[in-house]
Amino acid sequence: VSSIDLAVIPGDGIGPEVTAEALKVLTAAVEHDGVEVNPTHYALGAQHWLETGETLPAAVLEDLKTRDAILFGAIGAAPGDTRIPSGLIERELLLKLRFSLDHYVNLRPSRLYGTVGSPLANPGEIDFVVVREGTEGPYVGNGGSLRAGTPHEVATEVSLNTAHGVERVVRDAFRRASERPRKKVTLVHKHNVLVFAGHLWKRTVEAVAQEFPEVTHDYLHIDAATIFMVTDPSRFDVIVTDNLFGDILTDLAAAVTGGIGLAASGNINMDRTAPSMFEPVHGSAPDIAGQQKADPTAAILSAALLLDHLGHHQAARRIETAVSADVESRTGAARTTAEIGEAITRAVREA
Ligand code: IPM
Ligand code: MN
Repeated sequence: VSSIDLAVIPGDGIGPEVTAEALKVLTAAVEHDGVEVNPTHYALGAQHWLETGETLPAAVLEDLKTRDAILFGAIGAAPGDTRIPSGLIERELLLKLRFSLDHYVNLRPSRLYGTVGSPLANPGEIDFVVVREGTEGPYVGNGGSLRAGTPHEVATEVSLNTAHGVERVVRDAFRRASERPRKKVTLVHKHNVLVFAGHLWKRTVEAVAQEFPEVTHDYLHIDAATIFMVTDPSRFDVIVTDNLFGDILTDLAAAVTGGIGLAASGNINMDRTAPSMFEPVHGSAPDIAGQQKADPTAAILSAALLLDHLGHHQAARRIETAVSADVESRTGAARTTAEIGEAITRAVREA
């Protein structure tokens, strides 16, 4: 490819600020290879809903499907803005994109640069990826409420786990592990209590492991995994887990590696039947929006994941190298969002 047809969804709050920097860095990174980036911006998110009442119109979804990849900022209303029903934008835009575009691999790498920013006294070397299932689990909206609002209300939220859905994400985790030096997969679940889904996951890991004799694997219950994430995060290489456990564990993973300002993610359709989408793990942070205070690093690292997915591996390495140098040289002096973005863009251009 000599050009990337890129959809950009800046979203709300700090989304537009961090996305603008990620786009600059991404463009500079592929320039070396003679590749052009052609961005198309889409107005979507809480603000857009307030103005139009639209979350994700069918025609916009169809249009997005024609792009090579999606760069996503952040969405969400300011806390206390009661005009927007709680969770509406999350479900009808973000989750709808993940589900409609079959983003079954929610890839969330965690790496500690030097010892920068970890709240742990002895963090050790941290370099793992969480492969979070992205299209099933308790996120599917399979539930209901009987006798709502009465003292006899019964609410259910049924977690969906299919053999197909579990197998494809587990196989992806093993494949990623097989390409990493430590070659280890840790399944995180809670099969002592969640017996049906838990055993499907466990059986699937045992079966897929047969295809990857060079990869070792172990198992942790989710509660124990949170302890090890804080006491011994170096033990992890590739973690595979369901949608909700993965959501929680990746916030903790971000916290132990310097905060969500650095945490990148990819919502990946490995079968390439639809474009994949790359976004920082953080939200729209309305309290600091428009002030150039947000750290664009997570968005920039998400752009590197995007380039890897499209096969521009050298360009992705240029970004990671520049980010790693930038983060390690941080002194604590405040820089604006654009200053950080421009410093990394310059380093990428000079690489
Ligand atoms: C994330 C977010 C989303 C999730 C929300 C906004 C629906 O927390 O990307 O981790 O739960 O997946
Ligand atoms: Mn989350």
